[in-house]
Amino acid sequence: MLTLIFATNNQHKVDEIRIVLNNQFNIITLKEAGIDIDIPEPYNTLQENASTKSTTIHQLTHKNCFSEDTGLEVEILNGEPGVKSARYAGDTKNFQANIDKLLLNLKEKENRTAQFRTVISLMLNSKEYFFEGICKGKIITEQKGVSGFGYDPVFIPDGSNKTFAEMTIEEKNIFSHRRKATDKLIEFLKNYTY
Ligand code: IMP
Repeated sequence: MLTLIFATNNQHKVDEIRIVLNNQFNIITLKEAGIDIDIPEPYNTLQENASTKSTTIHQLTHKNCFSEDTGLEVEILNGEPGVKSARYAGDTKNFQANIDKLLLNLKEKENRTAQFRTVISLMLNSKEYFFEGICKGKIITEQKGVSGFGYDPVFIPDGSNKTFAEMTIEEKNIFSHRRKATDKLIEFLKNYTY
């Protein structure tokens, strides 16, 4: 079975992606691989940030690996917080402070349209491949739910009346940007000739 290192320290992302992969591939987290590193994400695109994470781990380990970078893109804020989603309210990467800032910036705004966008970078046999997933929805005015992470308590995907934070991981995966990008990764790996 193909083994891939998932270049993230975010256990929520690992849990979500492991369920989508459904044991078709062997995923090892950075922690499980004994790698203690916080890779900077200094770029202005999700693609470049995803790429720097997977190429850094590939250079360190010479093993197949992938990473992902995700941003919340809000229409009326011209796509912000976007690639800066983790640090929207400052370098401490505080989920609650980020939500507070977002709700303040959207106060009394009627257009609440937003989308999550995920870009996966896969380093396979020293070549890089990208996969994208988008989930469209809206930002509500007050937080609801306690599951998940990040902006989950204020985001309702199109086709649901619950926030991501009111859903189980399995429910979130029906709609999620990360699942859609992972589906493309799986399809690619299934058709790859080794
Ligand atoms: P990262 O740089 O890909 O780790 O993600 C940037 C930020 O986007 C995270 O710190 C979260 O605040 C937010 N984020 C990423 N994915 C999700 C998600 O699936 N739900 C809610 N927020 C997310």
